[in-house]
Amino acid sequence: MKSPIGIFDSGIGGLSILEKLKEKLPHENFIYLADNLNCPYGNKTKEEIFFLSHKNCKKLIEFNCKIIVIACNTATTNSIKKIREIISIPIIGIEPAIKPAINYTKTKNIGILATENTLTSKLFFKTLSENKIDNINIHEKIGYQLVNMIEEGLHSKSKILKILKSYLNPMINENIDCLLLGCTHYNHVIEMIKELLPNDIKILDTIDAVNRQVLNQLKSHDILNISTKNRYIKVFYNGSKLSKNFLKESYDLNYLKF
Ligand code: DGL
Repeated sequence: MKSPIGIFDSGIGGLSILEKLKEKLPHENFIYLADNLNCPYGNKTKEEIFFLSHKNCKKLIEFNCKIIVIACNTATTNSIKKIREIISIPIIGIEPAIKPAINYTKTKNIGILATENTLTSKLFFKTLSENKIDNINIHEKIGYQLVNMIEEGLHSKSKILKILKSYLNPMINENIDCLLLGCTHYNHVIEMIKELLPNDIKILDTIDAVNRQVLNQLKSHDILNISTKNRYIKVFYNGSKLSKNFLKESYDLNYLKF
């Protein structure tokens, strides 16, 4: 089925998902919506996040998308349940990798860096309470300012390093042995995060798990694209120009009202 896979985020964060997904699914077409007009989602109300997620999904459906990936932890944890109730095509979300972290940790201390709305969401709380974490300490940090800095791409590496350090150091001092990146924007500064973390702290994300889920859904609904002709990957934004400063790859970027 030639219809595209739809992806959205509040901005460029979800491009870190698209980067791997397009490699894993070389025959698929993609439509990516960067809702940078409304970025960041991390400090909006749950109702606003649902409204924005729904708006993005409706636009992707207008593009005839066969499946939607919510490439945003904040939008997933605050809206996916309701979105799935009203949208009939498969919806895949991304959320912090609590389970792999619980299986991984030896020091029984897990660090997590995410937006305020992800860490205070009911879904995140449910995931924590469904997993046995009685003997495990979760050290949460809200990545204030990071999404904006990455989105705007205006800031110097040293400024971002300084902010990252102020979030990571308290967790390092708590003896964490793994760090969850709970926001897709942070993948764009992963090299800086690695620079600041001791080598024995593992960074965990859920990109591969999300990609596996997308493939499984395409197979189980029998909607894989088998045609190899004229593949397209289109990235649309609705605010001011998308900053390319943190992007590893170049995309066909287009303005669209949505
Ligand atoms: N990329 C989004 C996420 O994964 C950023 C949220 C925001 O816009 O604050 O949470």
